Amino acid sequence: MTLQERYEREFPKSRAKALEAQIVFPGGVTHDLRIMQPFPIYTASAQGAYKFDLDGHKLVDYWAGHGSMLLGHSNPQMVEAVQKQVALCTHAGGNSELELEWGKLVQKLVPCAEFVRFTGSGTEATLMALRLARVYTGRQKFLKFAGHFHGWHDGVAIGSDPPYGSLSVPGIPNEIAKFTVVIPPNQPELLESTLKADPEISAIILEPTGGHWGAVPIRGEFLQHCRTLADRYGQVLIFDEVITGFRVSPAGAQGYYQVRPDLTTLAKILAGGLPGGAVVGRREILSAIESRPGKPKVRHPGTYNGNPLSAAAGIATLKQIATGTPCELANRAGKNLRNRLNEMFHRENLPWIAYGDFSMFRLLPRYHGPRPKMATGDADGFIPYEGDLEKLDGSSDPQFKFAFRQAMLLNGVDLPGFGGWLTACHTDTEIEITVQAVRNAIHLLAAEQIGS
Ligand SMILES: Cc1ncc(COP(=O)(O)O)c(C=O)c1O
Repeated sequence: MTLQERYEREFPKSRAKALEAQIVFPGGVTHDLRIMQPFPIYTASAQGAYKFDLDGHKLVDYWAGHGSMLLGHSNPQMVEAVQKQVALCTHAGGNSELELEWGKLVQKLVPCAEFVRFTGSGTEATLMALRLARVYTGRQKFLKFAGHFHGWHDGVAIGSDPPYGSLSVPGIPNEIAKFTVVIPPNQPELLESTLKADPEISAIILEPTGGHWGAVPIRGEFLQHCRTLADRYGQVLIFDEVITGFRVSPAGAQGYYQVRPDLTTLAKILAGGLPGGAVVGRREILSAIESRPGKPKVRHPGTYNGNPLSAAAGIATLKQIATGTPCELANRAGKNLRNRLNEMFHRENLPWIAYGDFSMFRLLPRYHGPRPKMATGDADGFIPYEGDLEKLDGSSDPQFKFAFRQAMLLNGVDLPGFGGWLTACHTDTEIEITVQAVRNAIHLLAAEQIGS
């Protein structure tokens, strides 16, 4: 029986649902990351580091709500807070005490958060951050880095995905694309010459641990360069901490690396896994949302801004994050997983490598470059191919990725691709299951000569 036949036999209920979905949703799914061949699995429930699918499998989960569930699934305090709030009021409109408590927690945790404005999502947060930067500087363009993802609105969708040579994105007018300047990450000299040459650039926006949650890692030194250059050439520095916020540390990447941006965008963990986002930062920039005599007002409606249900989940989550323990647990689990995977690849002489920072990990198949030195027991922090954008985040072979995911699911692990997000609930037990699953999956693919 082939890998795909085994997969189809193991997940019949998901298969049936996926067939139904084909006539409801374009591509049968509701998010691009959920595209899967021959069909995706359907989740029935989730608890801690696990999810349970319709066919009764217990799967170690590395989707973690697209990175939003740092505390693990169904965290008891979060569930209790949401259950209490759902009976009281899901959304009355108008103001609530909860939004105030939520905003104060954000102010307390995020170093740059002098002011907080809640949005409905991370995409809305980056949209607003860039608009605020334009108003503040009076300039029209912004600069982003190739491979950095900031949601799907027009300006930021450019340069997010390979091939990076082409900046034309279906549905985005060329006129709008002209306002987005895209350069490769980690090149301080190129960044400086670009900013110097173009006085119309209002902002530098970036994912502070690297594009696509660290496919091409960024470290503190480059963040400091961005800060220095933004000060020198007058741009607003925006850290998009939609993934890294409350994950890397309670104070996000800016807290860990001690580099303070002017604005920060947040979502995911912010709202405890419910929908929600925020743009936070310097008072004088965010005050453009206020009505000020003689000054332009940036309009900002949004039905679900600061809604009570997301606020309840966010408060219950951020209170736990504030202790520091969940980030520590997840970061330690991430380091263990990367180290254990690399030990296994080394021992079995497999051309794969695991890398990443904090509680995020990535797998690189067909890797033939230098390897981290395994002798010390902690060989974490290695950046393959010296951070080469095309090699680390270039176009990949979807059939190989789908086959690998099928093989991982057959071995009890659900990955969104070649990597994923850990939670505070991933322990040595789940790491052991995962290392074995990756090993078995690679052997399964090799047996069918998939990807070779
Ligand atoms: C770094 C980053 N920014 C922005 C977004 C967009 O957030 P949302 O999906 O809430 O619109 C994402 C989503 O994954 C993200 O990873």
